[in-house]
Amino acid sequence: MSRIVYLNGQWLPEAEAKVSIFDRGYVFGDAIYEVTAVADGKLMDYAGHAARLMRSIGEIALECPVSADELLAIHREIVVRNNLVEGLIYLQISRGPDDRDFHFPKSPKPTLSLFTQAKKFIADGPNVVNGIPVISLPDLRWARRDIKTVQLLYPSMAKMEAEKHGAADAWLYEDGFVTEATSSTALIVTRDGHLITRQLSHAILPGITRGSILSLARDAGIPVEERPFTLDEAKSAAEAMITSATQMVQPVVKIDGDVIGDGKPGPVTKRLRKLYIDYHLSNLI
Ligand code: PDD
Repeated sequence: MSRIVYLNGQWLPEAEAKVSIFDRGYVFGDAIYEVTAVADGKLMDYAGHAARLMRSIGEIALECPVSADELLAIHREIVVRNNLVEGLIYLQISRGPDDRDFHFPKSPKPTLSLFTQAKKFIADGPNVVNGIPVISLPDLRWARRDIKTVQLLYPSMAKMEAEKHGAADAWLYEDGFVTEATSSTALIVTRDGHLITRQLSHAILPGITRGSILSLARDAGIPVEERPFTLDEAKSAAEAMITSATQMVQPVVKIDGDVIGDGKPGPVTKRLRKLYIDYHLSNLI
């Protein structure tokens, strides 16, 4: 069934939504995006995604073409128009069409688009039951990874490299320390039960799921450390996991072929996944 998508104030069948070849998102990758999970036909952790969107927009000196209330209304309407029960909403704002010029246009006409994608992610699939293998790769992305830009070529290349090695994803490292995964946050659990993830900086995206998991962990009495960790520390950790909006919490059981813990999803990972699901499924909007 063809989706109904949103483009600059219009609701259109997906085949009719057209963007100019001069759009700066297309020519320069001059655009930012958000991905919000939808469960039970409602938005999951929306406030965090909306706040990060506004931050990304500000960091690239753009203005949001719609108000916060309109943005929420659009998110809700796209779910209804597409009868979406479980999946995600992808939103993108680019600086809009202009003659090709590295300078920003003086009066930009941003392009705002949203579409939905159905995806089952609440029930435990094989990746959650068994955990996933990852490989490590150098982090060759730009140095402002805190901004959620559409410049995703390197993460795509890294995912292809992982696939070539029979892995589900790649953990990226810089100066010997893990930054994050290609499209999710990387976390480990030490042998004495501490949850470790890199502190926020320009080096990583401030994951909304990350923030939520850290606060749920603290509330549950799990000691949390926000600090860099090396690949060696990750490989000898008791547990490893990734977090993102539509993966929630997923166990990682191998890094570069080295088995993590006993090679099975660990108790802290399982507990955090359950805490996340229980909390967010009862706080959908
Ligand atoms: N990716 N780090 C990176 C590099 C990401 O691309 C993402 C999200 C995350 C996790 O962020 P959050 O918890 O807010 O989803 C961390 C999205 C889902 C994507 O690109 O599809």
